[in-house]
Amino acid sequence: MAFRTLDGVAVAGKRVLLRADLNVPVRDGKITDLTRLERLCPTIRELSAAGARVIVASHFDRPKGKRVPSMSLAPVATALGQVLGRKVIFAEDCIGLPAQQAVERLRDGDVLVLENTRFYPGEEKNDPAFAADLAKLADLYVNDAFSAAHRAHASTEGVAKLLPAYAGRLMQAELEALESALSHPTRPVAAIVGGSKVSTKLDLLGNLVGKVNVLVIGGAMANTFLAAEGLGVGKSLQEAEMHATARDILAKAKAANCEVVLPVDVVLAAELAPNPPTRTVPVEAVPADMMILDVGPATVAGLKQRLAALKTLVWNGPVGAFETPPFDAATTALAQAVAERTRAGALRSVAGGGDTVSALRHAGVLEQFSYVSTAGGAFLEWMEGKTLPGVAALEA
Ligand code: 3PG
Ligand code: MG
Repeated sequence: MAFRTLDGVAVAGKRVLLRADLNVPVRDGKITDLTRLERLCPTIRELSAAGARVIVASHFDRPKGKRVPSMSLAPVATALGQVLGRKVIFAEDCIGLPAQQAVERLRDGDVLVLENTRFYPGEEKNDPAFAADLAKLADLYVNDAFSAAHRAHASTEGVAKLLPAYAGRLMQAELEALESALSHPTRPVAAIVGGSKVSTKLDLLGNLVGKVNVLVIGGAMANTFLAAEGLGVGKSLQEAEMHATARDILAKAKAANCEVVLPVDVVLAAELAPNPPTRTVPVEAVPADMMILDVGPATVAGLKQRLAALKTLVWNGPVGAFETPPFDAATTALAQAVAERTRAGALRSVAGGGDTVSALRHAGVLEQFSYVSTAGGAFLEWMEGKTLPGVAALEA
């Protein structure tokens, strides 16, 4: 898809509404990960240096159309200022008089952050009147929030119809990385899909089998496939009602000439707890009273061997219960092998979606993949082959 970028756009003296994703993770009132803010800096700096008046709009958490004080963007605006290393102004509202007055006071190059757009029900309803209130604040619209682009909301979609709309540099980087991985990848291309449930990743698996040469299935999701093939999985997490679906996916893969790789050995314990006694067995030999918590070393060795032949890899979801040691072993070993091939220039590696970023950070290789998306749900929907409304609105 061709989309409008900031190349050649005159922004000096213009009011630019920049849709960002300031929805950073917070625990006990503290921001636990600044990645989304860091990734946003290039666009803000470029616009500001070119003399734009930058007006940052974002949602934060899910206040459901009400002003929830604990979901204010004020502390995030402060953190953004620290990450940017410059003054950031904050407006107590995202529309209406407080927003308008804050915008009127801006000088060229200034950066303003508006209060949470989800304090208004019109945001998630994509209400044209709310979109118009946002549009009134600016001359141009730039969307840098790929991670919110799966939402057809006023600030991601509605407003793009009311102002000249462009992709910011982060949005551009995300789209270019994702397209190079699945839309026109250098082959052979493989996908590693982990996580716990087949039911949440059905569309994703269905789309992938038509696109990749090799589909590696790991995590608890693999248990459902193993059980569907008639193997005993003991007390493992699995979805019995998804067996027929799993077999359909395997049949679809076969018809599409996509090779599906399931674990050949697994690491077991009696329960999911840190450092319990474990056993490693072939997938055919899982006892009834044990559960599968990671893929085994033979599986990892086989996957590493396959990596040597691959040119492109897309990764979503850990292959084991990586948050609980030692069930992080396979995910970490695989991530490190992918990083090594990437560093050697032999592999293009793109990863994203929820847990994947934490798993790669845990493995110490977050910076060593070709591209790691900060998107959760948007990355999944993109892998499902869906058109993201916030992206479609930027189409050239
Ligand atoms: C995210 O954190 O994945 C995005 O900011 C979207 O948030 P949402 O799932 O609340 O729409
Ligand atoms: Mg979320």
